[in-house]
Amino acid sequence: MLSGQQLSDFRRDGFLVLEKFAAAADCDGLVARTSELVAAFELPKRTSVFSTVEQEQASDDYFLESGDKIRFFFEQEAFDADGELRQDKMRSLNKIGHALHDLDPVFDAFSRQAGLQELAADVGLAAPLLLQSMIIFKPPRIGGEVVWHQDATFLHTEPSRMLGMWFALEDATLENGCLWGLPGGHRRGLKSRFLRAPGGGVEMITLDDTPWPDDDFIPLEARKGTLVIFDGKFPHGSHSNRSAHSRHAYTLHVIDGTCRYLPENWLQRGPGMPLRGFY
Ligand code: FE2
Repeated sequence: MLSGQQLSDFRRDGFLVLEKFAAAADCDGLVARTSELVAAFELPKRTSVFSTVEQEQASDDYFLESGDKIRFFFEQEAFDADGELRQDKMRSLNKIGHALHDLDPVFDAFSRQAGLQELAADVGLAAPLLLQSMIIFKPPRIGGEVVWHQDATFLHTEPSRMLGMWFALEDATLENGCLWGLPGGHRRGLKSRFLRAPGGGVEMITLDDTPWPDDDFIPLEARKGTLVIFDGKFPHGSHSNRSAHSRHAYTLHVIDGTCRYLPENWLQRGPGMPLRGFY
């Protein structure tokens, strides 16, 4: 349960760092389970016979249908010019998403561990629902930059109320591409929305084109087991990982069931798998 000071820090800054939240053994368990999922994942067949347009369509669909599935997304630099992986699979993926927390028992247990429901309630989510989960790999050498963004751009509710939970499964440092954020930036409002386009695919709509104040972002280095919670409108991102060390993180996005989740959000679930809370 958050103290009054923590709660006022969270409201002022848009984020809160909770060290030693998750047990080291649970972090290791999640990484080990991830390795199993990756080992079982068969690399897609080389698609060089398809046109670029068909490939884009296929990857759009693979992404757009992933809201209620476990799907695998590669880093941009994962493949060489011949279409072969430069590093092993575990060191080539960008992320796995987006329903690990409902489909995999190990992720389910981690995502519904003691204390998270209380955290969500503390920051004002009346009826928390676990919307999305991702393993973020940030692999050594090829882990790409994530530009400044607000997660509510991708997962919008009315009224806007969403909580990001970011767990460091390994130490996240300046060297291996830790999270950066803009304290207080959640109060600037939402700058863009990422939507399903009426004609198919997705589109980004700009609501406010004021540039981010790059120099005001601060690093949020985090030891393994740290939980960073942040407001859906908290601006954040990370630099690329050119180090020899991986930087695995697990994220959960929690919305409030009393708010309206918009049908034009990119992430949608089929009727057979409604969102569930922590219990
Ligand atoms: Fe994000």
